[in-house]
Amino acid sequence: MRVVLDPQRCQGHNRCYLVAPELFEPDDFGYALLKLEGPVPTHLQEQALLAVANCPEFAIRVEETPGG
Ligand code: F3S
Repeated sequence: MRVVLDPQRCQGHNRCYLVAPELFEPDDFGYALLKLEGPVPTHLQEQALLAVANCPEFAIRVEETPGG
């Protein structure tokens, strides 16, 4: 699994880095930045799914990668 963030959709609702602080951080303006490139480690996959579910702008999605 990898996380994809669409910065064009992000409106700075802050929920992603509250529910997934190991995957997201805010930039200087409060918009989301991805902290992780590439496959999401197993122990962070739940955070990734929480972020997807909590972003009201649908700016975050996950894609399956080979090997999960
Ligand atoms: Fe942006 Fe959604 Fe996070 S709007 S700050 S990606 S919760």
